[in-house]
Amino acid sequence: MNITRFANLCAQGKAQGQRVFIRADLNVPFDDHGHISEDTRIRASVPCIQMALAAGAAVMVTSHLGRPTEGEFKPEDSLAPVAKRLGELLGREVPVLTNWVDDVTVAAGQVVMLENCRVNKGEKKNSEDLARQMAALCDIYVNDAFGTAHRAEGTTYGIAQFAPIACAGPLLSAEIDAISKALANPKRPLAAIVAGSKVSTKLTILQALAKNVDQLIVGGGIANTFMLAAGLKIGKSLAEPDLVGEAKAVIEAMKARGAEVPIPTDVVCAKTFGADAPATVKKPTRWRMTT
Ligand code: 3PG
Repeated sequence: MNITRFANLCAQGKAQGQRVFIRADLNVPFDDHGHISEDTRIRASVPCIQMALAAGAAVMVTSHLGRPTEGEFKPEDSLAPVAKRLGELLGREVPVLTNWVDDVTVAAGQVVMLENCRVNKGEKKNSEDLARQMAALCDIYVNDAFGTAHRAEGTTYGIAQFAPIACAGPLLSAEIDAISKALANPKRPLAAIVAGSKVSTKLTILQALAKNVDQLIVGGGIANTFMLAAGLKIGKSLAEPDLVGEAKAVIEAMKARGAEVPIPTDVVCAKTFGADAPATVKKPTRWRMTT
């Protein structure tokens, strides 16, 4: 796919002395004691930041963390623990800047973390004013937030429209290359695995995949919506009953091509939602048909 790549800009010396704004996905899980329990996303974001530093850029990195209320910063929303872990991986301190939308001071060869971007008013709804303000902070905007690339928010979408240069970081570029290769000339049989909590945010992807893949394996909350569509009971599990029609259409589109959406044949159940709730494996049961 023809995209502007940050790696190419760096190789051409175009990032030297430039203010580079990196949107990463550093939305990592925490344990009950407030410690990061899994740091893959932080480690995956390191190459882009190192690339920018090596190119002589003044580097700003931001991410969302959770789903905070805009305009109401709380200590638990802070990226400070993430900045600390990133600092360990980079071997340098990563200062965290709050209230950064109007102005950021960072020198070439330095990196700062801009506090949780979802606390800024207008981020979720992609406010144009906010996007323009953030774009004015940088010479080059880099989207390296693969895990959030499906959201049209201020730091993932709006800023790219107004930044002097907008490009894809190495993590996002690699994912685009991998999916382009897999879909353009795939080896068959081709299976896609799509999970997540909602069908609604991935509907267009599911519809596109249904035209191409031989097996579409659904997981997470999405699998529950497909189980409903297949007439199976899901108890109180997360699902989107209003999207059962769309899920059925995907199943039918696959069937018409001789392809398949495998529906789970057993499920893990518990009486309560809790990590310590005893789990039982059961066969799903069907809704009783009414006449
Ligand atoms: C994720 O964890 O799935 C991504 O970081 C996106 O987070 P979001 O669903 O809150 O936008």
